[in-house]
Amino acid sequence: MNKKLVKKVKRSFKEQFITKPLVVFSPGRINLIGEHTDYNDGFAFPAAINKGIALSISKSYTKISTACALNKNEIYNFNTEIIKPLKDGGWRNYMLGVVAQLQLLGKQVGNFNAVFAGNIPGGAGMSSSAALENSFVFGLNELFNLGLTKHEMILVSQKAEHNFAGVKCGIMDQYASMFGLKKSALLLDCRTIESQPYKIDFKDYKWMLINTNVKHDLSESEYNDRRQVCERVSGLLHLNALRDASKEDIDRIKSNISDGDYQKALYVINENHRVKQFSEAIKNGDIEALGNLLYQSHEGLSTKYKVSCKELDFLVDRAKENPNVLGSRMMGGGFGGCTINLVKKDAFKTFKKEVSKKFKAAFEYDCSVYSVKLSRGTQIIKNKKI
Ligand code: GLA
Repeated sequence: MNKKLVKKVKRSFKEQFITKPLVVFSPGRINLIGEHTDYNDGFAFPAAINKGIALSISKSYTKISTACALNKNEIYNFNTEIIKPLKDGGWRNYMLGVVAQLQLLGKQVGNFNAVFAGNIPGGAGMSSSAALENSFVFGLNELFNLGLTKHEMILVSQKAEHNFAGVKCGIMDQYASMFGLKKSALLLDCRTIESQPYKIDFKDYKWMLINTNVKHDLSESEYNDRRQVCERVSGLLHLNALRDASKEDIDRIKSNISDGDYQKALYVINENHRVKQFSEAIKNGDIEALGNLLYQSHEGLSTKYKVSCKELDFLVDRAKENPNVLGSRMMGGGFGGCTINLVKKDAFKTFKKEVSKKFKAAFEYDCSVYSVKLSRGTQIIKNKKI
């Protein structure tokens, strides 16, 4: 939770709507390993972070809903009885998508007033969209007594993204944002949608995110294209998902599929193994192994799955040159956004300085560096907390 953000949103809400709102905080996420595995019913290892979206919301009692995106200084008026996706709707579509999905479930969503703001850098692969969807579904569920469980809520958020933002995402982002735990990452089985928490404390090492500031837009067809490739290959194998495939399986059909499709399927199979190896390495306290798995993951994402970009590859290469960095890889959907790096605590500042300088020299603009805390998932912020 971020107190400053919550205060800002509460204050602005009271100025505009005079009443006391319900306040929700919904975090973004990082993912330690297990990329593009979620929509293959596979495994991922995400954690909610201390950056997120704060939302103030109350019933409106009129035929008009008003939503205000403080960061953008934008206001949108609508009526929950008439909901459809907007062309280039941005944040509006995530919110409207949640309302539409709740209605499809037969839930009565009355009109409401909302103010929200966030501190997750957009397009950075840190799930600002999942945080936004979850904040609205959580707030509306509470406000209108809809009686949804957290599992039901994240499915609403995911469908909102599919149908109103056009991204056929998996469940990892919404899950991590909703179920995150302090100081822990979640070994998530995306088939059962259940997770096991792992306390994350690597003593001398900590996580560093480096944002290329190349904004990815997952609604661009590339993300959906990768999902289609995976479904095509698992379909040919008569399997429900690539989670059930082995290398031997895809070798058998190698001559029936393109080399590109073969490599992508192989990446998914390998990445699923890596997630399990990663969880074992945590249990064994084998920090070197963790780092190597991160590098292997990036190699696969870049050369086989082909979702990296030159700026991300550059950052991973610089990490490899520095003995104080144990591992690094691109994080999230790809095509831009952040790398996640496992860096020695006492070398954090020097690596930050060094990599920022080299990035600027290579691309003539700045990258951004963040450290994050692993934090609790979506929650209502009680008045006395702020
Ligand atoms: C995006 C999607 C997730 C997941 C990741 C890649 O963040 O929203 O569902 O597929 O990309 O691991």
